[in-house]
Amino acid sequence: MPTDDQSTQTTQPSGPHGEPLRPMTAAQVAAAPMPYMRWAKAHLSWEALGPESICLGMSGLEPLAAQDRKHLGLLPPPDVGAAAANLKSALATRYDLTPEHVLLTAGTSHANFVAYLALARGGRIAVESPTYDAHPRLATAVSAHAASLRRDPRRGWRFDPASLAGVIDDRTDLIVVSDLHNPSGMRLAGEDLDLLVEAAERHDAYLLVDEVYADLDPVPRESAAHRSPRVLTTNSLTKAHGLPDLRCGWILGAPDVLARIAGWDDLVHPALPPAPMADAAAFEPQARERLATARARAALRSEQVNAWVETTPRVAWTQPTGGLTGFLLLEGLDGDEVAEHAWETHRVRIVPGSFFQTPQALRISFDVPEADLARALAAISDSLSTLATMAALA
Ligand SMILES: Cc1ncc(COP(=O)(O)O)c(C=O)c1O
Repeated sequence: MPTDDQSTQTTQPSGPHGEPLRPMTAAQVAAAPMPYMRWAKAHLSWEALGPESICLGMSGLEPLAAQDRKHLGLLPPPDVGAAAANLKSALATRYDLTPEHVLLTAGTSHANFVAYLALARGGRIAVESPTYDAHPRLATAVSAHAASLRRDPRRGWRFDPASLAGVIDDRTDLIVVSDLHNPSGMRLAGEDLDLLVEAAERHDAYLLVDEVYADLDPVPRESAAHRSPRVLTTNSLTKAHGLPDLRCGWILGAPDVLARIAGWDDLVHPALPPAPMADAAAFEPQARERLATARARAALRSEQVNAWVETTPRVAWTQPTGGLTGFLLLEGLDGDEVAEHAWETHRVRIVPGSFFQTPQALRISFDVPEADLARALAAISDSLSTLATMAALA
């Protein structure tokens, strides 16, 4: 897609993640998690080889020529290096950072995985609870010990300071939170962010803020990555921008921390597909305007749910400060049973709170047409009252 803003376009030679091609010392290569890939990225790219060389180092067929692809009904080959470098540059512009503060990934999931892998494998991770289920499970996947940082529903899902003090210590490698919080949709309170940054700095840990919903905050804020070299943030175009098919994500952080993560990423994603990155780079300058519409629609739906909560027995929530999701706390009912009843009886699908470490809850995503939302909420009301009656009779 063409864009009016060509200021971020670059033709500088760069590696498959848009990184500048810099020679590495033998010691740097040897110390990398995958020395061969580090060496290959610096020495085997077409840009690094130059026109007069002969390369016996490539391990795949020469990429198909445009003519062959056309013959096969495929799109022409995209410009690999420029797509990644242009996306990095567009993101750096958006965040008022340099491209060295951006590491491209295939979505937030990939971003989170490589960050955990690089910074906390076999170590100790303090992760918010409740949270998106991947976070505690990623800790297990990288053989780390996970401890829960409690978010308190009675304080609008703010962190319980006692839990912060009790869980984070000098052994902690990584602290993980989301902003906006998934499932509750609450903004990370400024004072809580201060406490978390201070704790990371004091204990030589890193703070990872998963900002995949942050762009849907009605009060746009600076990314937490600006706060300290000990903070990194992860994000993508999946949730807040309606471009899940691109699988374009990123990590913002201090260049030396990103270099560590990039080394581990060699084992996972030696290169990213260039066509989605080119689309993402073209989309970036238009993102802000589109977000305003998405935020306004989500705010209306949130009001609709709030009005329902206020008049419905056995359910409570803290109305989200933004985003598309809310966490309904149930009084005396099991979220799995309510979710199953709503599906079996009304064909309304809701996520049980047990997937967010909270069995007496439901996570709803309310960015659906107004009439569908009204019908779904009426269905949940019916499921709540039917199951409460059955429980009373049992
Ligand atoms: C907090 C959080 N982080 C990350 C993800 C995954 O994002 P992506 O599609 O960019 O991998 C999700 C998906 O629901 C999420 O809720």
